[in-house]
Amino acid sequence: MNMESDVKPAERKITTLAMLNPGLQAAIRRIPAEADAVIEPIEATRPNAIFTGRERFAREQERIFRRFPVPVTLSALLPEPGSVVAQDGYGIPLLVARTRDGEIKAFINACQHKGSKLVEDCEVHRQSRLTCPYHAWTYGIDGKLIGVARSEAFENLDKSARGLKELPAREWGGVVYVQLDGRADPDWSQLSERVAEDFGSLGIPSAHVYGRKTFDLKANWKVVLEPFLEGYHVQRLHAQSIGDQFPDAPNIVDMFGANVRQISGRIGYTPAMLDADAGANVHKLVTHAYTAFPNCVVVTSQYYISVMLLFPRDVDRTVVDYFMLTPEPAGTPKAEEVFKRSYELILSVFGNEDFRAAEISQQGLAAGVPAETVYCGLESNIIRYYDAIEALL
Ligand code: FES
Ligand SMILES: [Fe+2]
Repeated sequence: MNMESDVKPAERKITTLAMLNPGLQAAIRRIPAEADAVIEPIEATRPNAIFTGRERFAREQERIFRRFPVPVTLSALLPEPGSVVAQDGYGIPLLVARTRDGEIKAFINACQHKGSKLVEDCEVHRQSRLTCPYHAWTYGIDGKLIGVARSEAFENLDKSARGLKELPAREWGGVVYVQLDGRADPDWSQLSERVAEDFGSLGIPSAHVYGRKTFDLKANWKVVLEPFLEGYHVQRLHAQSIGDQFPDAPNIVDMFGANVRQISGRIGYTPAMLDADAGANVHKLVTHAYTAFPNCVVVTSQYYISVMLLFPRDVDRTVVDYFMLTPEPAGTPKAEEVFKRSYELILSVFGNEDFRAAEISQQGLAAGVPAETVYCGLESNIIRYYDAIEALL
């Protein structure tokens, strides 16, 4: 008899309060009972041009997305040494590889002969070499040029000088950050130790990628980001899906530089629930939502974690890589059923609700209306985040 056939994924591997790091536990303990939460009104606006202006978009590219390392993919996508994936989200052809000794490296996905892409799709490939489709120059996944077809036809070709162009890369709490402009001395200071520690506690570095989907949205990246920084829309935009699970209450927010951590109780939450069952899945009571600098969104759910990388492609275009992470692959048909249903639900909630809201808002903004966006006390984390990134512009 299979002893595990009745084990639900949540029971097989869950996160309890005690498994979280002390800072995260303390933050969770600050969440008031839903009935005691107080909404503080605020007066705040932002000019339309931050979502529609070319000058602002160019400044963000220069002062944020090219100046600091930015997230390109997840460690969990490349668990195996000797695997590689292409990433075009930023409009630069990138390759991210986990070398045979387990190290993450990033390269420009371009052959040193004439620039051809080496990997044309965005699937994960398990292979130790990359062969250019054009004239078949071959590289190791450590970037070294190891083979040139008809090499005797080249005079003085120094293979050691024609390896793939490498970009500085680092794994940070399970997110792979890359310095896109390739400068040799990246400024890693915007990456928060606290966020990396939390992501470790939540199991993000060692998670399983259950599902992955790319969205190409007609909206500015901040318009796409905003719903993940506010609870105001949840009971309204999501009225037909998940709205009834989340109260209209401000969340506990901590800023770590330009990284935002929001923690909130589910509907009807009281702090006593935390201690009622020490072995309980903490994700049933509490939702975590992070914006890791500058465009990585993490949202926890009961049985899985959503990670989204919002790649700004143009002032009114954002490519989103969505990842659904589970603690491990589904071990039973029942677990697979739970994951499958969760995946369908979350793609529908984010895709048909949050991302749709972003696209229809961009249309109004592009028509110049409103001249300034207005924010309330249930949206104050948007303003905190904007203050932090505007300080860098
Ligand atoms: S462009 Fe790659 S081998 Fe020629
Ligand atoms: Fe939402």
